[in-house]
Amino acid sequence: MLKCIAVSKKFGGLNALKNVDLIVNKNEIAGLVGPNGSGKSTLLNIISGVYKPDSGKVLFMNEDISKLPAHLVCSKGITKTSQAVQSFPHMTSIENVLSGVLFGRKEVKEQDPLDKAKELLDFVGLGKEKLNIAARNLNVVELRRVQLARALATAPKLLLLDELLTGLTPKESDEAIALVKLIRKQGITILIVEHVMRVIMGLCDRVTVLHHGEKICEGTPGEVCNDKSVVKVYLGKKFSFYED
Ligand SMILES: Nc1ncnc2c1ncn2[C@@H]1O[C@H](COP(=O)(O)OP(=O)(O)OP(=O)(O)O)[C@@H](O)[C@H]1O
Ligand SMILES: [Mg+2]
Repeated sequence: MLKCIAVSKKFGGLNALKNVDLIVNKNEIAGLVGPNGSGKSTLLNIISGVYKPDSGKVLFMNEDISKLPAHLVCSKGITKTSQAVQSFPHMTSIENVLSGVLFGRKEVKEQDPLDKAKELLDFVGLGKEKLNIAARNLNVVELRRVQLARALATAPKLLLLDELLTGLTPKESDEAIALVKLIRKQGITILIVEHVMRVIMGLCDRVTVLHHGEKICEGTPGEVCNDKSVVKVYLGKKFSFYED
């Protein structure tokens, strides 16, 4: 479904990404991990059209989308939630999600947009009492839910999640993991960036590891966690489910 081919990106003299290849297959949950500053968010920003690659290509369903602006990438079916949560601060939760529901909508016969926004906010678990609160008055966990609902509102085929679970308690993380699985069940393919290995292990079919902008490993979560170079540069020690 998604193919990044030899994608490179420089910021000034810094190589944020060097010749990175990445494949995401339809209906899989793919993971992207690596130390801070290894280029994970930069790659998601390139896939979603926020940045353009200096060289290399991004193919989505066999079409080259590398040069498209973000709103056109979104119309093609790729939506991203950001690591630094973004919202329209003066708009309510419902209005924030409505912006996604109404984005690029052509048919008027579909479900009422307001009902759709409410349904999505219920799906991501935002409390009913928060529906009409301005986004600037929500906490970061609530904002992440609104951001996810807004992303889903654009009816993506491929959903890019950049540290969706950061700052969640273990119980909230488990709920979010279940939610991501439910999203996949609806036929949406997912590429997730996450530091918590327990989440990656529990969720991903395949994982790619970046280090200093280069891909150093890819495989099943089990293979990646036992890879010597990944243990050395990222994990510090072999990952075990029973240690955290
Ligand atoms: N817009 C930008 N301008 C200049 N440098 C940038 C920009 N965006 C990212 N960088 C740099 O590129 C490198 C990769 O950053 P990126 O945000 O992709 O890393 P990351 O893997 O997402 O890290 P983290 O785990 O901390 O989120 C870093 O050195 C970062 O400082
Ligand atoms: Mg990042």
